Amino acid sequence: MAEKKIYLPEAEMPRQWYNVLPDIPGGMPPPLDPETKQPMGPEKLSAIFPMSLLEQEMSTAPWIDIPQEILEVYALWRPSPLIRATAFERALGTKAKIYFKYEGVSPVGSHKPNTAVAQAYYNKQAGITRIATETGAGQWGSAMAFATQKLGMQCKVYMVRVSFDQKPYRKAMMHTYGAEIVASPSQDTQYGRSVLARDPHTTGSLGIAISEAIEDAVTHDNTNYALGSVLNHVLLHQTVVGLEAKKQLALAGDYPDVIVGCCGGGSNFAGIATPFLRDKLDGKKIRFLGVEPASCPTLTKGKLAYDFGDTAGMTPLMAMHTLGHDYIPPGIHAGGLRYHGMAPIISALTREKIIEPIAVHQLECFQAGVLFARSEGIIPAPESTHAILGAVMEATRDKNAPVTILFNLSGHGHLDLASYEQYFAGELQNYEYPAEAIAESLSHLPKV
Ligand SMILES: Cc1ncc(COP(=O)(O)O)c(C=O)c1O
Repeated sequence: MAEKKIYLPEAEMPRQWYNVLPDIPGGMPPPLDPETKQPMGPEKLSAIFPMSLLEQEMSTAPWIDIPQEILEVYALWRPSPLIRATAFERALGTKAKIYFKYEGVSPVGSHKPNTAVAQAYYNKQAGITRIATETGAGQWGSAMAFATQKLGMQCKVYMVRVSFDQKPYRKAMMHTYGAEIVASPSQDTQYGRSVLARDPHTTGSLGIAISEAIEDAVTHDNTNYALGSVLNHVLLHQTVVGLEAKKQLALAGDYPDVIVGCCGGGSNFAGIATPFLRDKLDGKKIRFLGVEPASCPTLTKGKLAYDFGDTAGMTPLMAMHTLGHDYIPPGIHAGGLRYHGMAPIISALTREKIIEPIAVHQLECFQAGVLFARSEGIIPAPESTHAILGAVMEATRDKNAPVTILFNLSGHGHLDLASYEQYFAGELQNYEYPAEAIAESLSHLPKV
């Protein structure tokens, strides 16, 4: 019998991250200064990010060393297992081989600490003692709370209102790691107060929470800002996932025909997929499938344009797929996929037709997630069910085709069980693509 779980020894953990930037065909348009509309150098961003991360953001080096202190924290849970979903294959009645990389084994239950630990480390090196950040589903906030605690720093998390109400145990987790948490929009920032004055019952959005966290960082000397997705350096840190998976598949004597990931800001998908990009460019037949929610269809219905990463318009302008920086997506349960933009790296690879994006509805995702839980035992995070559904679609298009599928199970859903209960009670609904709301917010794109 083939091995069910493929483990790498700790000594085999990648010692370098893979930088996809120099490999992107057609290159990447630079971030722009929103005032001058000229390419933006690192100086202006140094108010909220350490120079070492800004260097990674723009680096053209193909590989970047992972510092020893980060490797030691990674070793708490890395290398994560690669698992062959044999029971799920049987449940689907497919001849496809389905492998998943399980990032739910991290202390907080998702891939997010891969970059949180790195970001906390580089900030600490730069003399920063406190991090301000946002969180959607609570996974990123938990990751940053954990990482700052490991590195002896403080942490303030602005948690999107809808998740703050839906996920009380995420708050408890962040408290356990010693972080301070507030629902966003909050009374703690000028921007939060202005949003609440306009709309006291808003469910909030990642864009708003990002604006608040940036304001916090700008107004506190000891504080920097950290983002859980989207930026190049975040995607860089996540490549440990794909680099490990590649070695593990080699141990299993396999190679994927298609790699699937869910797409919120793009970091877990980039993490698993981009380490295979060079092979594709060298002629290997491999497809990359990015799965996003139909209620927040950034890649499939958004525009590739320069836009702000936050709602208040404090970030540089990034060339990315966007639904408009003031788009507030419906309150679906995959809170981590409710973001108006997409990583510039994922956007550029989609532009080059290297990534195939699809949009799916939440009820079908939960259905796939439940089937997965009942066959493989792991209850997936609602975000990750999008990747599972993508894998199901690939595995069942022709059930006799012996394709090899690799997907990223970006997190477990142990703190999302309330949404499973709502699904079983028939209380969840699909949201149609909100064309008018998106057209309205796209009309506010900055003119470049
Ligand atoms: C479990 C999980 N998967 C996926 C995502 C989406 O983020 P990204 O697209 O950056 O991986 C999140 C975000 O919070 C998450 O918590």
